[in-house]
Amino acid sequence: MAPARPLTLNINGTDHQLSLEPRVTLLDALRESIGLTGTKKGCDRGQCGACTVLVDGRRVNACLTLAIMHRGAKITTIEGIAQGEQLAPIQAAFIEHDAFQCGYCTPGQICSAVACIAEMRAGTASAVSPNVREQAIAFTDPEIRERMSGNLCRCGAYNNIVAAIRATAKA
Ligand code: FES
Ligand code: FES
Repeated sequence: MAPARPLTLNINGTDHQLSLEPRVTLLDALRESIGLTGTKKGCDRGQCGACTVLVDGRRVNACLTLAIMHRGAKITTIEGIAQGEQLAPIQAAFIEHDAFQCGYCTPGQICSAVACIAEMRAGTASAVSPNVREQAIAFTDPEIRERMSGNLCRCGAYNNIVAAIRATAKA
């Protein structure tokens, strides 16, 4: 077992000084060392998306990456999505569109949705829109479903999740 090493992670704008073994995943660091349990552990093997967080604005499955790899990065978890006491537009849209049932997948869905909307606005390519464009990609349901395909919902709230993302993207 490798010895623990000092590590600073910037989470939601705050530096956290940690001492972690190199094998510790970002997900376990968030939940067990920092106490940010909003990020969920579903499969722990990159299949469900429940652990999705943003690293420098890009979606990452926190269960598949080591904490030590993210020194100097800006990590955003579900706890950092709201703007102070104010829900972020995507959070308000999830409530308005009834986009969750048990809620277990919801933190990952919302983090993923934030990046999904940014990608579409930036014209980033996807399987549905394979050519990178300079203008925003249309916020169609197939586009949103493709881009959100890494986030599973066992409750099957997909239609309402798509509706919440579409409404936020178009706002
Ligand atoms: Fe990370 Fe399922 S817990 S993808
Ligand atoms: Fe239950 Fe998605 S709301 S798993």
